[in-house]
Amino acid sequence: MRTTHWAEVRLVKESPNTLMHVILMGPQGSGKGTQSERVRARLNLGSIATGELFREAIKSGTALGQQIQAVYDRGELVPDGLTVALVEERLDQLAGERARGSGIDGALYDGFPRTLAQADALNRVLQARGEDLTAVVVIDVPRETLVERLAGRRVCSACGRVYNIESDPPAVDGVCSACGGQLTQRADDTPGAVAKRLDLYQKETAPLVDRYEREGRVQRIDGDRSIDEVTESIVAAIRSSMAPRPARVR
Ligand code: AP5
Repeated sequence: MRTTHWAEVRLVKESPNTLMHVILMGPQGSGKGTQSERVRARLNLGSIATGELFREAIKSGTALGQQIQAVYDRGELVPDGLTVALVEERLDQLAGERARGSGIDGALYDGFPRTLAQADALNRVLQARGEDLTAVVVIDVPRETLVERLAGRRVCSACGRVYNIESDPPAVDGVCSACGGQLTQRADDTPGAVAKRLDLYQKETAPLVDRYEREGRVQRIDGDRSIDEVTESIVAAIRSSMAPRPARVR
């Protein structure tokens, strides 16, 4: 199984139009969004962040956006069919950008897949493209730390940069250091919605981590360290999955 995987990784690197596929997993507040931006910049990966795609749909104010908003504010999961359709659309966009020579080497999935059904759908989508997962990285953080982090999270309403009033504050209270936009608290960061989301992770997503672990794909990262240390560990983990092992590649 690993032989096939490494051979396919090599194919991905050699073929001009195929993409690498890296999944970043972890409970809410583990730092997926924070790390995604940094890791993408280091490894030339495009973003497939379902939470972000949903927030954009909500902002657009369409009927679809309003439906998503109701689910999102309750801290529940958006239906799988809709989530997968949005991901496929974004994947096509990234593949198109790569074909046009944008320099993107692959996709970093943040917040997707988070159910077994979504993972099955992603497998089908990748198989149809003749591609495979490159790496699955799971960020581990204790639950009490997650609750504290989400209570302190603030997000720029203009550019989306994420801050924390304790661990990563802006230079001026309430103002984005990057663009001067206003910082706000996410609607799903209320204590009730946070508890519900963390329980949902255990129920819906932990079984998926177990499955990827049984398949030998998971690399676990201790996320209860500084943001810089976590970034270095994630980049190293992904690079180790990208490097073909000559003895195994025929
Ligand atoms: P989404 O936006 O994906 O949110 P989430 O999974 O709930 O994850 P979070 O954004 O809460 O956490 P994060 O791990 O990104 O942490 P962050 O980097 O911000 O999804 C939102 C909603 O959309 C879902 O509830 C659902 O309704 C829907 N949805 C999304 N995907 C879906 C899917 N596939 N299927 C169905 N529905 C879906 O960090 C948190 C805080 O900690 C920040 O303040 C940050 O500054 C701080 N921090 C980060 N790292 C560190 C560190 N090392 N030390 C100290 N502080 C840190």
